[in-house]
Amino acid sequence: MAALRYAGLDDTDSEDELPPGWEERTTKDGWVYYANHTEEKTQWEHPKTGKRKRVAGDLPYGWEQETDENGQVFFVDHINKRTTYLDPRLAFTVDDNPTKPPTRQRYDSSTTAMDILQGRDFTGKVVVVTGANSGIGFETAKSFALHGAHVILACRNMARASEAVSRILEEWHKAKVEAMTLDLALLRSVQHFAEAFKAKNVALHVLVCNAAVFGLPWSLTKDGLETTFQVNHLGHFYLVQLLQDVLCHSAPARVVLVSSESHRFTDINDTSGNLDFSRLSPSQNDYWAMLAYNRSKLCNILFSNELHRRLSPRGVTSNAVHPGNVMYSSIHRSWWLWTLLFTLARPFTKSMVRGWLLAPCTPSAHLSGGPRGPPPCVATSCPPGLSLGVWSP
Ligand SMILES: NC(=O)c1ccc[n+]([C@@H]2O[C@H](COP(=O)([O-])OP(=O)(O)OC[C@H]3O[C@@H](n4cnc5c(N)ncnc54)[C@H](OP(=O)(O)O)[C@@H]3O)[C@@H](O)[C@H]2O)c1
Repeated sequence: MAALRYAGLDDTDSEDELPPGWEERTTKDGWVYYANHTEEKTQWEHPKTGKRKRVAGDLPYGWEQETDENGQVFFVDHINKRTTYLDPRLAFTVDDNPTKPPTRQRYDSSTTAMDILQGRDFTGKVVVVTGANSGIGFETAKSFALHGAHVILACRNMARASEAVSRILEEWHKAKVEAMTLDLALLRSVQHFAEAFKAKNVALHVLVCNAAVFGLPWSLTKDGLETTFQVNHLGHFYLVQLLQDVLCHSAPARVVLVSSESHRFTDINDTSGNLDFSRLSPSQNDYWAMLAYNRSKLCNILFSNELHRRLSPRGVTSNAVHPGNVMYSSIHRSWWLWTLLFTLARPFTKSMVRGWLLAPCTPSAHLSGGPRGPPPCVATSCPPGLSLGVWSP
């Protein structure tokens, strides 16, 4: 044996042959990973050659890729009427020769949510996105749904929400996506949403608090609070409170508060440095729309930080993110002047698909152009290593 090995002719006929107990598998996106059944772990690198691979080209004619109830990808050969967990393209893999990304920055302003989720499989994960019928929330919900997550669009207007659901299903008819009513301007509605969600008896792995209003004239909600403050901050605060136990039971889980860079241009303290509650929900005389928005976004960050401090020991993390400046969503619609400003700024700002709220958190596994994050687990109930939130000012 030693002589054979010395001569390069040991007992395997190919350097690619897997050691006993190992299995080659593919992700939905065609990345190859290796499952070690003895140690119950997976890795992207071939156990012998250390190379990363992906399958080349499309499935052969008559084949289709499906996902079973445990989230594992399998293949249906319609012509021969059989199914297999073995990707038929595994015979034709190509090496992935990753180059190290620049160490300082993994993503930039041209990165889209779909780029970030490339290679990830969220099958079995439940995601709630508030205000998901338009803008950044819609793109976020769609990206999760196209990567296998069960996504709930929590929206105040069911007609707009159903239309958003249809748009996602047009892109992938198997997407698991649904709409539920949530009006953040009405605490009773937040309560109803939480009750209806809990009645579904599903986990909650990601809660994206995205909905917001901007530049509104002063108004009070039915609960007697200034509308911007209630919709952007308090409604979400209450929602997280009500769903906290579900999040903790679903750990590892994550909350994302969509804030804004503009949180810097305000203050919620009085002249002696104490929190001034009257600034949070001001009277009509003390109201300036832009300031109200900025304050609500500052509240998002303060809330996120405190939530993270309290819940991270229980496996629920929280991040506040800034999605990008003055993106042309419908957020400016409350006043023609905002619409004009957003229109003028549009050529210089990011598109909606680039207003991503998602990022993987496994630096060791990241290589540009290659699969991101840890490979799927041997036991499919394992968390996929998701982390959301890229920027916490
Ligand atoms: N666009 C930017 O440049 C920018 C910059 C920094 C931060 N952000 C943040 O990004 C997030 C998304 O904004 P966007 O630009 O995508 O704006 P958008 O398209 O206007 O989306 C806002 C969403 O919030 C929903 N919403 C409003 N009031 C609600 C309520 N009472 N209850 C439930 N949902 C409600 C809206 O629903 P309807 O369609 O029914 O009104 C809409 O779906 C916001 O948190 C915003 O502060 C945006």
